[in-house]
Amino acid sequence: MTSSPKRIDVTLTVNGEPVAASVAPRTNLADLLREQLGLTGTHIGCETSHCGVCTVDIDGKSVKSCTHLAVQCEGASVTTVEGLASKGVLHAVQEGFYKEHGLQCGFCTPGLIMATHSLLDQNPSPTELEIREGLSGNLCRCTGYGRILDAVQRVAVARRGAGA
Ligand code: FES
Ligand code: FES
Repeated sequence: MTSSPKRIDVTLTVNGEPVAASVAPRTNLADLLREQLGLTGTHIGCETSHCGVCTVDIDGKSVKSCTHLAVQCEGASVTTVEGLASKGVLHAVQEGFYKEHGLQCGFCTPGLIMATHSLLDQNPSPTELEIREGLSGNLCRCTGYGRILDAVQRVAVARRGAGA
């Protein structure tokens, strides 16, 4: 990583592709993803780590990208909601939200999908309480939590059935 007073070069991997970017020191990852890389599936809401719409995966950990500096991602592997589907086929988590209609306006959905992806990687058989706690950092302003819960449970069952 090289630096100048106003811009810093950062190299990382995003959705499996190498990325080299030049950012201001205070640029957050969400802005890098959206404004420089065009990955607008990562939404921005509160910008204070409360709502979760900006959730992405960094090196296997769920991170709120609105408060994570882009320069902190040097050498990291970042996955966004755009990186889940493969060759036009929805990822199991996306499929679960689709099948259970786990969304209304959809603004919170990318963050919830990424948070669910992380939750089920860490705990493939969560109880209802564990799902609620695991997704407590992701808010849905449409308050469709019942269908979201159904979606996560559906995904968990499907993953176990597939041996994931
Ligand atoms: Fe990042 Fe709300 S925009 S947590
Ligand atoms: Fe509208 Fe969650 S579906 S904010």
